[in-house]
Amino acid sequence: MNTNTRLRIPAFVSTAALLAAGFLASAPAAAGAPYTEGALRNYNTYCVQCHGVNRNGRGVNTRDMAVQPRDHSDAKGMGDIPDEEIAHAIKDGGLAVNKSVLMPAWGNVMNDEEIKELVAYLRYVCNCGSTK
Ligand code: HEC
Repeated sequence: MNTNTRLRIPAFVSTAALLAAGFLASAPAAAGAPYTEGALRNYNTYCVQCHGVNRNGRGVNTRDMAVQPRDHSDAKGMGDIPDEEIAHAIKDGGLAVNKSVLMPAWGNVMNDEEIKELVAYLRYVCNCGSTK
């Protein structure tokens, strides 16, 4: 599609199209699942090497890591971390929350909305709400 064509589409039509696209992109992974397909995909792309396919902190990367990744399936451990800290740790890395630098920053990879969705996904994985 060239730019001229796009510019001629009335604003309300493209807004509706964007909303529809956004809705599809954030559609739940399974009916009633409390997380988005995107969050699941991001976790499986960026987090599993360290946090593990079983979400227990035992990813393939971890054998020689001085600090072991958080066990995301640990309801107690994860429940002790407030949502804001989880989001901060994901966005700005472990150092930003006084944790290990081995936890990378993802702020250049994911936007705030995607990070928020990832926090919701982590709450699903730990089967815990924030206790703080
Ligand atoms: C290179 C390995 C690595 C990758 C990849 C990685 N992490 Fe981590 N992560 C760690 C380590 C190590 C820690 C433990 C830091 C500590 O306890 O000092 C950690 C801790 C965490 C914590 C706990 C933070 C806290 O405040 O205790 C969360 C939440 C987390 N990671 C989420 C993620 C998410 C989501 C992804 C994918 C977007 C991800 N991590 C990718 C290594 C990794």
